[in-house]
Amino acid sequence: MKSYDIAVLPGDGTGPEVTREALKVSEAAAAKFGFKLNWHPYDFGGDRYLRTGEVLPDGAVAELRRFKAIYLGAVGHPQVKPGILEKGILLRLRFELEQYINLRPVRLYRVQDCPLKDKTPADIDFIVVRENNEGLYAGAGGNLFKDTPHEVAVQESINTRRGADRCLKYAFELAMKRRGGKPWKGLKTDDVSAGKTAQLTLCGKTNVLTYAFDLWWRAFQAMGPQYPTVKMDYAHVDAICMWFVKNPEWFDVIVTDNMFGDIITDLAAMIQGGLGVAAGGNINPDGTSMFECMGGSAPKYTGLNVINPIAAINAAGMMLDFLGESQAGAAIESAVIKVINEKIQSLAAGRMGYSTTQVGDLIAGAL
Ligand code: IPM
Ligand code: MN
Repeated sequence: MKSYDIAVLPGDGTGPEVTREALKVSEAAAAKFGFKLNWHPYDFGGDRYLRTGEVLPDGAVAELRRFKAIYLGAVGHPQVKPGILEKGILLRLRFELEQYINLRPVRLYRVQDCPLKDKTPADIDFIVVRENNEGLYAGAGGNLFKDTPHEVAVQESINTRRGADRCLKYAFELAMKRRGGKPWKGLKTDDVSAGKTAQLTLCGKTNVLTYAFDLWWRAFQAMGPQYPTVKMDYAHVDAICMWFVKNPEWFDVIVTDNMFGDIITDLAAMIQGGLGVAAGGNINPDGTSMFECMGGSAPKYTGLNVINPIAAINAAGMMLDFLGESQAGAAIESAVIKVINEKIQSLAAGRMGYSTTQVGDLIAGAL
């Protein structure tokens, strides 16, 4: 029997509660599809930091590097200054483990969960490939004359050709493989006759960020011809925000830098039904990847058994798919769709009609 070793970081706030349900559903999928999951828990997070004064102990990254996958609940603790845990755990792991892709699928499962008028699940089904190691997140910058009226703060966006190329390559390949090569329904007849099966939209700001996005633009143009079945498309980030609301059906795969990817995926999460369902994967295709829900640790709901675990369950599904158990991943998503459509009242915390544990049980039972 195949078996997988997975590091588990439940983290802070509601992280442990949603992680429990994600692991429960994963176990049910493993039993059904005949593989074994060995969980290796780590207590990194706010409580440990308050107790020991260290965010990640020495050697933690080296230890985590031995796993192909990490499952992360959430980080963020009300008694810890913002930034310490986010930078010290989440961003540190994304960077040191070179998880250069942040993959965020956006899919509406049920019409009533969408805040947009007249949009249905057929209209909202795209995926964002966010660059995850560079840009404004690289930490380049500094202050001069700090705390004086002359203070200067500089925060630079770092964009390398290697970083853009590897991200674009991942996005083109994903576009080519998505739906098993079956044509995307948003293509025009001309595109179909030209042999296109998918669309990749570069989301940038070439009209203002004339250095950073010029590099992205040239890299995109240079790579495109290697993927003749992928229709190349471009949109400015502000226009994307408008179209996510007005015409989300225009998108198939979107590729963008770290900061724009952060922002547009929060908007995207809202049109797919909220942070209760939005999941993502921090991917290093050749190393250690880390799966998480997009939402945070939701301190005010901690311990109440009311938080929606579906995003965490979706993240687990992505993880199993990434590990090569694609049937299990697909079965989890189908079970989620079934349970949402047949049982769940609302995707919001406390209004699901069921507790966190019950939602986990329902999805595990629907596999
Ligand atoms: C996300 C989060 C993180 C980010 C924060 C918590 C550092 O917002 O995963 O999108 O900005 O990437
Ligand atoms: Mn974010």
